[in-house]
Amino acid sequence: MGPRVTRRHVVQQILRGRSKEPVREQGIGRAPVNIALCKYWGKRDAELNLPRNSSLSVTLPGMEVEMRVEVSGEGRDEVVLEDNRLPQDEAAFQRVVEYLDLFRGAKGLRFRVESRSAVPPAAGLASSAAAFAALVRALDALFGWELTPRELSILARLGSGSACRSIFQGAVVWQAGRRRDGMDSFARPLNIVWPEFRMGLVLISTAEKAVGSRPGMNHTVETSPLYSRWPAVAEQDLQRMLAALEGRDMGALGGLAESNALCMHATMIAARPPLLYWEPKTVSAMKRVWAMRQEGRRVYFTIDAGPNLKLIYPVEEARVVREVFGEVREFAPLTESASCS
Ligand code: PMV
Repeated sequence: MGPRVTRRHVVQQILRGRSKEPVREQGIGRAPVNIALCKYWGKRDAELNLPRNSSLSVTLPGMEVEMRVEVSGEGRDEVVLEDNRLPQDEAAFQRVVEYLDLFRGAKGLRFRVESRSAVPPAAGLASSAAAFAALVRALDALFGWELTPRELSILARLGSGSACRSIFQGAVVWQAGRRRDGMDSFARPLNIVWPEFRMGLVLISTAEKAVGSRPGMNHTVETSPLYSRWPAVAEQDLQRMLAALEGRDMGALGGLAESNALCMHATMIAARPPLLYWEPKTVSAMKRVWAMRQEGRRVYFTIDAGPNLKLIYPVEEARVVREVFGEVREFAPLTESASCS
């Protein structure tokens, strides 16, 4: 075992020989929200956000975050979300500042970061993955690095694990990798075009969750007796999901995504003390999906670290989904225009 690899080492390795000075006034970057079908849950390295298992997601077209970065005129970092300046003691402010610490160069630059999101707060979608992916793209533009998508993905991962998937569009795989420096842990797009594929958001609550995914996964890894099974289950699910995507097999893909999500939640529920992100309405929505399937409908769900459901179904089921769940916000993540980076 050599010395521990830090985020700073990784950044140095990627930016070697590249500019430490801004090449333009302002850098602008955009990136979409992604929803995992095969979940990332648990890290093998908390500093570098290296996962214990590979994962697979789809990005939601139109649900983008835009970041603008410039050198601050005030000599200190400023983070402005939708025109609201974040107070310095806010956790989100500190998370961004810690990330910016990696890019200040010898001059110790301070930045002004402005973020605008097309993700309505009422959509119940966490947008931190999109935010860090957009921030990396904005820094790349500001400094004129011209990094490859793979390098952008590795840098985005240092901000938030799942952000490495938001560098790409459509169906995206994040390979866990084995290296200690994480240079083999990045996402890649699958370029799957499947126009009939739909994802629908069933909103249960938009209240901020009590336990974020970062402490949630650490707690699960440390205390859940079921966690040890998870990485192998997820790797196997992923291989099967790739085959289902290749074969455009909605039944197989939806069934695998649903049981993968339930398996992840089972590891959390078994943590000590338990971690339960569901509300009573989450469970009744799950039961409605199962009742639809009993009637032969090809509708499935996935659930992240929160109470809301994301339904997975082919376009033919869109009408019946609306009949059962009312107006769901619906996406077609795998059309040609939505899935090619
Ligand atoms: O990247 P994080 O720390 O926001 O964790 C994401 C965790 C899940 O959303 C539950 C699963 C995933 O793969 O996106």
